[in-house]
Amino acid sequence: MKLIFQLSGENLPLAAAEAAAVAGLRKYKVEGRLLVVNVAGEAGAKAIREAAKRLAYTSSIHRVLFTANKKTLDAKIAGYKWNTVYKESFAVRISSHIAKEGSHSAKEAVFSEKDLAAIIWKKLKKPVVNLESPKTAIEIIITPKTVYCCLLLHKLKHDFEQRKPHLRPGFSPVSLHPKLARAIVNLTGIKKGALCDPFCGTGGLLIEAGLMGFKPVGYDIDDEMLDKAKANMLHCGIENFVLSMHDATLIKHKYDYVATDLPYGRSSKATEELNSLYLSFLQNLKRMLKKRAAVVFPDTAPYTALIKKAGLKLAGEHTHYIHKTLSKKIVVLE
Ligand SMILES: C[S@@+](CC[C@H](N)C(=O)[O-])C[C@H]1O[C@@H](n2cnc3c(N)ncnc32)[C@H](O)[C@@H]1O
Repeated sequence: MKLIFQLSGENLPLAAAEAAAVAGLRKYKVEGRLLVVNVAGEAGAKAIREAAKRLAYTSSIHRVLFTANKKTLDAKIAGYKWNTVYKESFAVRISSHIAKEGSHSAKEAVFSEKDLAAIIWKKLKKPVVNLESPKTAIEIIITPKTVYCCLLLHKLKHDFEQRKPHLRPGFSPVSLHPKLARAIVNLTGIKKGALCDPFCGTGGLLIEAGLMGFKPVGYDIDDEMLDKAKANMLHCGIENFVLSMHDATLIKHKYDYVATDLPYGRSSKATEELNSLYLSFLQNLKRMLKKRAAVVFPDTAPYTALIKKAGLKLAGEHTHYIHKTLSKKIVVLE
């Protein structure tokens, strides 16, 4: 079946990579804010249901019933066997992914939700319209090249704002926004087991791992940070975690999945020290990593050279703008 993921516009490459990692997508195309992909069989459908519970940078997932163009849409809608997908009630929504021209959006200029719903109404045995919460949500997604006629499968529920760092008992100004933290954990492709953060700080990444049902394992060199992480985990209802005071460059255990946001500083002396800390950590990561890691560097760090020197494989990289003087590089390592 053909699916469309509606991606969050703030970082499209990251959004697409997150969806691909969690849903196990290999071949897909990104058209503006849409990720279009073919998924096969019950295994594929199950992966999509799981992804819908986890993804941070996807807002909805749709099944494509058929494609059309602006000229053929009415006729294709009239020809479709709507009784095969209809359940209890329906509504039609149009979303346009064509840049607005003048004061008229493409949606206003070409189609009306009411007119399209009227065509479908005539084709149904027992039509009921429910605009608030239709059981059959029909979405017409218009892009410059194609009109996708879809069923809404999942509207993703996101509650990241509720656990922003300043709303947690153990505050740290450098803890990442939970939405970004979630995407970073997801980039590891974890499906089960433990997620290790060797520089866990107040636990921003571990919280997201715990909320997705994975076992959070955190290390930090600073016991005050570990106390804060513990308070934050309990505050978020996570109990099955392990936190331990340890130098990240000396961790002996091996882990399938690692996600971490490296410490960073600004002065040039700190930079030299940090680069040597990054290298020691990456060399240890090479020993301790069994599957995949997502590691966040300040974008000023010579991360590609350090990764190469440590003998790790760079499987993906993304830039995330934090503020005027700070962007982060999120790298996926194997
Ligand atoms: C950028 S912060 C992590 C922020 C964290 N993701 C959070 O949500 O608060 C980096 C953390 O690395 C810790 N750290 C610095 N050097 C370390 C080392 N050698 N081993 C372990 N932790 C270290 C610091 O104490 C700090 O808490």
